[in-house]
Amino acid sequence: MMSIPLNGKVGPGDAELLAEINQLRQTRNAVILAHYYQDGRIQDLADFVGDSLDLSRKAAATDADVIVFCGVRFMAEVAKILNPAKTVILPDMAAGCSLEDSCPVDDFAAFRARYPDHISLTYINCSAAVKAHSDIIITSSNARYIIDQIPADQPILLAPDQHLGRYLVQETGRDMVLWPGSCIVHEQFSEKELINLKTRHPLAPVAAHPECPAHILNHADHVGSTSSILKFVRESDADSFIIATEPGIIHQMEKTSPEKTFIGAPGIDGECSCNQCPFMALNTLEKLRDCLRDLTPVIEISEPERLAAKAPLDRMLEMSPPQIQQTTDSMPMSGRAY
Ligand code: 13P
Ligand code: SF4
Repeated sequence: MMSIPLNGKVGPGDAELLAEINQLRQTRNAVILAHYYQDGRIQDLADFVGDSLDLSRKAAATDADVIVFCGVRFMAEVAKILNPAKTVILPDMAAGCSLEDSCPVDDFAAFRARYPDHISLTYINCSAAVKAHSDIIITSSNARYIIDQIPADQPILLAPDQHLGRYLVQETGRDMVLWPGSCIVHEQFSEKELINLKTRHPLAPVAAHPECPAHILNHADHVGSTSSILKFVRESDADSFIIATEPGIIHQMEKTSPEKTFIGAPGIDGECSCNQCPFMALNTLEKLRDCLRDLTPVIEISEPERLAAKAPLDRMLEMSPPQIQQTTDSMPMSGRAY
């Protein structure tokens, strides 16, 4: 069957597919969770849209029989680790993450062994196997809050995102040993083009994800997770914003603040299309329909690995800030009980 191009807007060609998905989600008693980097149409049909922490919490709490994870594989793995009795499916099993790829488990285990006195704070963007070798999982929305609870004399390893790590070293004043991984998407932004853009839009604040390198974060007025960036643009009085993260998030911004203008930060070729996450983009409406119909690809994790990976995730949930009141960007999109 021909693939429907995803441009974030529901078109007449989508009606049949959407009807099939709506029918199947009921038959399967499925909940559809989506990350802000997904195509706008997937975000709009999801039961919940959120950042990595929001989605982990939703996955842990759902009583649906099937969790359809419209995000990348490590996010779907977290859902399975926290809620093993559920069937967790992902529209495309090839939806990986460059940060996960940058941190193979054997190398990570050897890295840990070199620093026996350090605890490992591991960014959630990693495999279940790496989580199983970690002490506490962090996301970009809880990292600072969790680090502040760790005694000042406790040495820390932070993996796999060196840019998030450097940003946290600067913010917390803690000296951490960093794993040299990075996100291929957030590394694409061009400082030169960003400065040019700021010159043309001097009143537009720059909001950036901490996965961006320091030369981009140095120009940011706000640095935070996807949900924190959404909150910033919603609450700011500015009329236009420069957004230095994956452009899928602009869909939510345009929904919640239609009167404001959002400009994607440019990539190295002066365009922002190269900042689309190629892994997130693998999920399509067709694949979503197919995975609901066939209950495959399904996430499977061995029980010993799941239990080992669950311990640092449970620690993360215990040490995270209290759940913030649901806002329009993380609320149930179709009003389903969950
Ligand atoms: P958030 O947790 O901020 O949504 O980030 C997830 C991610 O993969 C960013 O690239
Ligand atoms: Fe991974 Fe980067 Fe894609 Fe986020 S944007 S899922 S860190 S590759």
